[in-house]
Amino acid sequence: MPDRRIAHPDFRSRVMSADEAAAFINSGETVGMSGFTGSGYPKAVPLALAARIEAEHAAGRPFRIRVWTGASTGPELDGALAKAHGIEFRLPYNSDPIAREQINRGEMDYFDMHLSQVAPMAWQGFFRPLDVAVVEVTGIRPDGALIPSSSIGNNKTWLDRASKVILEVNRWQNPALEGMHDIYYGTALPPDRVPIPLIRPDQRIGEPCLRCDPAKVVAVVETDSPDRNLPFTPSDANARAIADHLLEFFRHEVAKGRLPPALLPIQSGVGNIANAVLTGLVDAPFETMTAYTEVIQDGMLALLEAGKLRVASATAFSLSPEAAADMNSRMDFFRDRIILRPQEISNHPELIRRLGCIAMNGMIEADIYGNVNSTHVMGSRIQNGIGGSGDFARNAFVSIFMSPSTAKGGKISTIVPHASHVDHITQDVQVVVTEQGLADLRGLSPKQRAETIIANCAHPDFRPALQDYFARARANSYGQQTPTLLDEALSWHQRFINTGSMR
Ligand code: COA
Repeated sequence: MPDRRIAHPDFRSRVMSADEAAAFINSGETVGMSGFTGSGYPKAVPLALAARIEAEHAAGRPFRIRVWTGASTGPELDGALAKAHGIEFRLPYNSDPIAREQINRGEMDYFDMHLSQVAPMAWQGFFRPLDVAVVEVTGIRPDGALIPSSSIGNNKTWLDRASKVILEVNRWQNPALEGMHDIYYGTALPPDRVPIPLIRPDQRIGEPCLRCDPAKVVAVVETDSPDRNLPFTPSDANARAIADHLLEFFRHEVAKGRLPPALLPIQSGVGNIANAVLTGLVDAPFETMTAYTEVIQDGMLALLEAGKLRVASATAFSLSPEAAADMNSRMDFFRDRIILRPQEISNHPELIRRLGCIAMNGMIEADIYGNVNSTHVMGSRIQNGIGGSGDFARNAFVSIFMSPSTAKGGKISTIVPHASHVDHITQDVQVVVTEQGLADLRGLSPKQRAETIIANCAHPDFRPALQDYFARARANSYGQQTPTLLDEALSWHQRFINTGSMR
């Protein structure tokens, strides 16, 4: 009995099992998979491939592939392939714990990069040719157009660039997703680039479906599997305090006339603090807001439902199981208010700058001068990756980084003399906020920044030591533009590595 979701006969004739489809992927090949923050990733073929890789390894035959995605995926993809020791090279973002361990042990090469740059770099040929695309879709229309799934990510590029295409048609995805997507086919490389014709977050500038040459499709696999929808932990006191400081800042900026009453398009990173900020906006006095962001999480749906948010533009969902169920039950309401785009558009610097986004992202640490580390614990262990934070921070109207002031039960200060790794330079960081308070760094010199960050953001347990360091740097530094004691600058981190505490 043919599935109505596969409405084109050519595609229907290529339906097969995940094991049969995985056999099209060879060792050493580069595979572009769909998936972004745990949504819309293929769930059956990577598992079948992982089993095949384990069997090959057991037989003494090496088998590893290079994996490209939109961003993070789920345990059936990164987790299973990493567990099978099947990933040789990974880009552009990972949050899977097994893959993370292999990267940090030096067993997997990882190219952690700005998410907006993946598609253009693939087209420029910096990476190897793309051998296979494995892309989850919601359905295939009679004309062969692909109805995208719960994320778009780099799917357009993978389908265009790959020699072979494997499609997973996931019955779990709501067919009413059709019409929510906007696939823009107008990007080009220089010298043929033209302005992207998007001037408002609610605009549609492309097509609702993905194009795919049926001649390239070697396999179609039917699945019925949920996305990796993880529950959010309830907001703790720190997250609520950070949200309160930010909301106060927005009120102040509106009162000063620097932000309009509806604010500017919001970009919100993922995680519990970001979600707490969004939740706080439900009761804040800002109406008819818009979001131009990367990921839609629970708080964004709550804002849409409350009528506070008019439209949310992103490239993917990252929802709790409850929020996913809620959205699926009222898709007609949400489809009019949500637009999913390719990540080269959702994260495009030209558009972020033009729209004037308010960028809010998490961080590992900030130094007293406002350099931000988003990626490397103790300067060398990757946590996740830069993701879209750089795309948004550098080009935003206001660029905000947030974190509790301490980590690891208070043993680590997230405000440090010198960032152990820098993802966002001081010029790209305008506001730092912890549960202690908010530092507005706009227009401040390095020394003024240091005084403000230490006073407003550092935890009281670490503030005296930071003040002491800064005073000594003021007295003894080689130069006084950005006072730094080079031999002491990273000693806080070394103390943690040696003793388990920065105290
Ligand atoms: N030193 C050491 N470890 C630290 C740390 C610090 N200064 N700050 C955080 N950590 C550890 C935490 O202890 C935690 O470790 P655990 O999982 O072993 O408990 C881990 O890092 C994650 O921290 P958490 O407090 O759960 O923070 P989060 O979920 O808010 O994530 C980032 C913070 C920075 C990791 C996250 O925002 C991120 O990956 N950012 C980069 C990508 C990005 O910004 N994407 C959005 C763009 S659209």
